[in-house]
Amino acid sequence: MSQAPAQQAVVALDGVTKSFELGRSTIGALQGVSMRALSGQMTALVGPSGSGKTTILNLVGALDHPSAGSVTVAGQDLNALGSDELADFRNRTVGFVFQNFNLIPVLTTLENVMLPTQIGRSEESEQVLVERACQLLDRVGLAAQMNQPVNRLSGGQMQRVSVARALMNQPKVILADEPTANLDHATSGKVLELLRALCAEEDAAVLVATHDPAVLPYCRTIIRMKDGIIVGTEDTRA
Ligand SMILES: Nc1ncnc2c1ncn2[C@@H]1O[C@H](COP(=O)(O)OP(=O)(O)OP(=O)(O)O)[C@@H](O)[C@H]1O
Ligand SMILES: [Mg+2]
Repeated sequence: MSQAPAQQAVVALDGVTKSFELGRSTIGALQGVSMRALSGQMTALVGPSGSGKTTILNLVGALDHPSAGSVTVAGQDLNALGSDELADFRNRTVGFVFQNFNLIPVLTTLENVMLPTQIGRSEESEQVLVERACQLLDRVGLAAQMNQPVNRLSGGQMQRVSVARALMNQPKVILADEPTANLDHATSGKVLELLRALCAEEDAAVLVATHDPAVLPYCRTIIRMKDGIIVGTEDTRA
């Protein structure tokens, strides 16, 4: 009998500390955090405001660096990468979904999804990239809105565009910071269902920082944080 392949830890934090100097005081945003996020499933980071959720996303996305400890993403130790390699890493290995969508209002829906391909080099032809963007828009139910200015869309539609955009460069990890904060309950459900299905299809790890309890049923693992420390980890078999 063949065994199912072991789930890969695409994200690994080991003994991570992050401090911010603020005047004469030091804020310990993360204090010895070790955690994993696996490919093909969603992992939630939950906890009170200031507990360190966004700080973790920023470290995994190489938008900031740890004060101590290691952050390994898709087998790469981020401490070992130089600035050019980190820029390449941000563009190719991670996709971002934001609370405020961060779409470019003057561009069309399709142009917004294509944006990650305009940064850095791409080995693919323009035609292949446009085809992938169209497929992703079809997958998130927005093929008909492809050529519309993105600012004509509803909030839920905009967040579905940002999910498609986050996946455009076939990232190993998607980082979503409060992705449902500006959506109503029903719309949140649609976006979360898509995120969960697409991360499984694309074999990406999704790391979601959230206050929204509606996110939790979609997540396979829930990591609870308080004051820069992990206080609990649950496997929900979602
Ligand atoms: N750039 C910064 N400079 C100084 N302190 C910071 C900075 N970024 C975060 N912090 C501090 O680090 C701690 C963790 O912040 P973080 O943004 O990670 O919390 P969070 O869990 O995402 O909170 P929220 O739920 O409000 O988004 C807080 O005390 C915050 O004030
Ligand atoms: Mg935050």
